[in-house]
Amino acid sequence: MNRFYVTTPIYYVNAQPHIGHAYTTTLADVLARYHRLAGAPTFFLTGTDEHGQKVALAAEKGLMTPQKQADETVVRFQQLWKKLEITNDDFLRTTEERHKAVVRKLLQDLYDSGEIYRAEYDGWYCVACERFYTEKDLLDGKCPEPGCGRTVDRITEANYFFRMSKYQDWLISYINEHPKFILPEFRRNETLGFLRKKLNDLCISRPKSRMAWGIELPFDPNFVTYVWFDALVNYISAIGCFADESMFRKWWPASCQLIGKDILTTHTVYWPTMLKAAGLPMPETIFAHGWWLAGESKMSKTAGNVVDPMAFADKYGVDAFRYFLIAAMIMGEDAIFSEEAFVRRYNADLANDLGNLLSRVMKMITTHCGGRIPSPGPAGPEEDELRDSAIGAAAAMCSAVKDMRIDLGIGAVNSTVRMANRYLEKKQPWTLASGGRLAELGTVLYSAAETLRIASGLLYPVMPSKMAELRETLGIGAAAPDLDGLSVWGKLPAGASVGKAISLFPRIEMPRETGRPGHAGTELVPALQVASAEPHKGPEGVAMIEYADFEKVHLRTAKILVAEKVAGADKLLRLEVEVGSERRQIVAGIAQHYRPEDLPGKTIVIVANLKPRKMKGVESNGMLLAASTDDNKLRLVTVESADSGCVVK
Ligand code: MSP
Repeated sequence: MNRFYVTTPIYYVNAQPHIGHAYTTTLADVLARYHRLAGAPTFFLTGTDEHGQKVALAAEKGLMTPQKQADETVVRFQQLWKKLEITNDDFLRTTEERHKAVVRKLLQDLYDSGEIYRAEYDGWYCVACERFYTEKDLLDGKCPEPGCGRTVDRITEANYFFRMSKYQDWLISYINEHPKFILPEFRRNETLGFLRKKLNDLCISRPKSRMAWGIELPFDPNFVTYVWFDALVNYISAIGCFADESMFRKWWPASCQLIGKDILTTHTVYWPTMLKAAGLPMPETIFAHGWWLAGESKMSKTAGNVVDPMAFADKYGVDAFRYFLIAAMIMGEDAIFSEEAFVRRYNADLANDLGNLLSRVMKMITTHCGGRIPSPGPAGPEEDELRDSAIGAAAAMCSAVKDMRIDLGIGAVNSTVRMANRYLEKKQPWTLASGGRLAELGTVLYSAAETLRIASGLLYPVMPSKMAELRETLGIGAAAPDLDGLSVWGKLPAGASVGKAISLFPRIEMPRETGRPGHAGTELVPALQVASAEPHKGPEGVAMIEYADFEKVHLRTAKILVAEKVAGADKLLRLEVEVGSERRQIVAGIAQHYRPEDLPGKTIVIVANLKPRKMKGVESNGMLLAASTDDNKLRLVTVESADSGCVVK
């Protein structure tokens, strides 16, 4: 397997680490861990961006030198990565001499070869973005950066420029010829769109008289280096560029450079042209992920909606937090971060599915098999189906890592886990045990435990501690799994002693302030119910969706035939409904709002294509729609004089 070099952006040291930072670094960590499991020599770099105006201003406010300010605040990132069990091989700070020396050498080389020249600059400057703009770059006279829009200052001064414009045609061809260079594809198109306008040369200096916190230009002591020209170089300075030839040759070009969508231009235009001018090869892939949003807007300090990743991991556990970040964001797209969304997903995927499967299997093995993994008997069609699903999940995860869609790989693992839970319900091992059918019992428990071995191995890079715990309980030790072994069914050694049954992911109560207390099974009530008075805005806390997304949801009318309480669940009703010619069972959290006897005969609206799920052990095949009133009551959405099975649109 090829060697793998993965990088994160280096974070501005003056800011508090937030969910966005935690996401990129965790994603890089998951990628690095997968590659290590696959046996690829791997190098994972992260670090901090410590020069420039932002740090200088923060230091001024704190009445300290910028270096002292950086030394104090860098710790926040280092501690967070430690907490999140990030396995970076290096942490580069741009104030380190090993980095500054490379920046100076690169600048001198480019200056000597005529790639950098001095000129008078007259234009607009955004202090926050630390970028220059021409008149036509501005948007309504303001900074054109997405999410910025601040007032810009007019600036006239001598500066140094990198001849970026001369690489415009080359860059366009390079991007066109290398479809994996910028991912996802829509970001590649965004860069190509940007390159349709004439590219300017890049101002790479700042006069010290205006801003002195940076790396001094080796050819003019009156200037420091523009922070981006300095920061981007971290990706090569950390791996021995100009210093350790063999190390540099081993790792460069990077395999995967992760960035957020807001720093696309600097990474897909500035960076490649800088490398080209220096005669260095291009990274294989620059992958831009989306933003974590709070409601509809980006999480940011200014908006005051920042979630502290450290506090979150403390509250809910590191692995659960890592899992949510990686599973809940479609790689490349924006996603909404909320405690409620976290709790829902945790309860559904980890508590109800994976954790439940583990505890059921372990309890049965302890009670009926003397605490040892039983030997399986001959496999029937259900065992074959489970085996194919588990092996399929391993293949799906492998492609997902290659295609930068780890969220999809996780989805495939979850489907297998759900299938294993359904398999247990169908096979009823407790009945097999009480009926003394021990050979069949062995097959069933072995198959379920083997599914757990494969699933836990595939999820190991995402939740290293919890999966180690799971594997120890399974009797195969906490050590990292052998990736190849996850595509082979039957590797779980029969006879291995299992550990004590553990509750790996205890269910979490929906927090009162974020959940909607009193709403039984809020999962059953889609967010569509909250009316919003504002045009063009989604309901509060809900992002707008495309019509194509809405089209995926199949809404149908359904006639309630039977309604009854679910034993042991005071909020749930079990409904049997007729949907056209089909009869199905739905579990709904409406028991505190409707008496069962009042429901038969009503024609309601259901989401008909929702994957089946269990609630209190009862399978629900669909979800009904209800309106949530101001006084926390649920009212069913009903349809007058319509047959069941009609399409609702
Ligand atoms: N210092 C520069 C990067 C230099 S790399 C040579 C920088 N730093 S940053 O701290 O402001 O941002 C670092 C990364 O965090 C960026 O990739 C940015 O997209 C990402 N995020 C910042 N807010 C984010 C979210 N709300 N969600 C996801 N990621 C976001 O830019």
